[in-house]
Amino acid sequence: MAAPASSAAALIPRSDRVAHFEQDVWSIFTPLALECQAVNLGQGFMNFPPPDFVVEAAREALLRNDCNQYSHPKGRPRLRNALAKSYGPLFNRTLDPEHEIVVTAGANEGIYSIFAGYLDQGSEVILMEPFFDQYISNITMNGGVPVYCPIRPTGDTSKNMDASQWKIDIKELESKITPRSKIIVLNTPHNPIGKVFSREELEQIGDLAVKHNLLIISDEVYDRLFFDHKNHERIATLKNYWDRTITVGSGGKTFGTTGWRVGWLIGPKLLVEPALAAHTRLVFCVNSPLQEAIAVGFEQADENGFFGGQIEAYESKREKLLSVFRELGLPYTVPEGSYFVLVNTDKIRVPSDYPFPDLLHKRPKDFRTCYWLTKEIGVCAIPPTEFYSKPNQPLAENYARFAFCKTDETLDAAIERLLKLKPFIKA
Ligand SMILES: Cc1ncc(COP(=O)(O)O)c(C=O)c1O
Repeated sequence: MAAPASSAAALIPRSDRVAHFEQDVWSIFTPLALECQAVNLGQGFMNFPPPDFVVEAAREALLRNDCNQYSHPKGRPRLRNALAKSYGPLFNRTLDPEHEIVVTAGANEGIYSIFAGYLDQGSEVILMEPFFDQYISNITMNGGVPVYCPIRPTGDTSKNMDASQWKIDIKELESKITPRSKIIVLNTPHNPIGKVFSREELEQIGDLAVKHNLLIISDEVYDRLFFDHKNHERIATLKNYWDRTITVGSGGKTFGTTGWRVGWLIGPKLLVEPALAAHTRLVFCVNSPLQEAIAVGFEQADENGFFGGQIEAYESKREKLLSVFRELGLPYTVPEGSYFVLVNTDKIRVPSDYPFPDLLHKRPKDFRTCYWLTKEIGVCAIPPTEFYSKPNQPLAENYARFAFCKTDETLDAAIERLLKLKPFIKA
């Protein structure tokens, strides 16, 4: 975004790294939702508090001096130990908290640090679309080049679909790999499709990584949020992929604390070292009291029946939100994990003479649909073309992403408003 021309600050040129950034979707839709007092199902943050036992641990940590000072760049030992204990059985191995775990400032900084630790100018990173939008700037700011391959819906998109029907064409994926490719990024459970990759799919991706000597970043920030007893497989546990995989986790998604900015990387010592080196220069260490609280979260999760209870609560929220789209006859993809629903908006008839601001005429159709939904129906959703490269945006312009990590009251309010869509839906 350019600075206002009248400002003296405009005379100081921005670095090429940030000068090309477009206005992002959040800075359009979050203020819009506020301005219209819309029910905000846009951004994926919880509007309910984290569990009491985690909040209490944060309060106690703030009262202890050692928790208010710098921590080790690798993360506080208590948190690394708790992560090793909780994740060891899920990875089918004993995790070494000293060398195989790094605590980061949210998953996002962890991912940034991996790119900083591995990319050279012109190194290519293979991404599957739709992608988490921060990947792009994380890659380009580190000299890398994103290369895209879409995950395509394989069923009849005019009907409800299972998230597993969105598939990657493995030949197409391989065709994107060049001698400059260094990293492939996988996201499971997937935002925004809600897809949980099957073992077979993970092995196809893993085999490609082995064949072409790629580092795998497995972004598993929603790893505690998968539904219907579906098994969340971890690529790091399959075949020999552990040796080339860094798995990324998020305390924000795990304990409903997205603002605390605590995340982690798990992988073999040699693989995480370059990321740790970059992370140490970037933030030095992650805030101490909230690391302590997330450690307690893991230590006490089982006795509080936390993870199972959280899944049940999200399953019920998912069902609540899906029920209104069924009633409206709008097809959707049933998420197997994460807390987003992709809804097919093709049948919504937005009035053709609706006065959209100029800014939106340059954006794909889903920006206008979501703008109209926010302003006129009073429910904010996010246009998913934001998560695609420009050439592939047409693949997503008939969708909207709704987040259901919200209180039941908020979801009820959204449902009441969404029912006003009825006269605008083509039979
Ligand atoms: C797929 C994915 N990866 C990473 C992140 C970032 O997680 P954190 O908030 O821990 O940085 C998000 C957040 O929305 C996400 O959806």
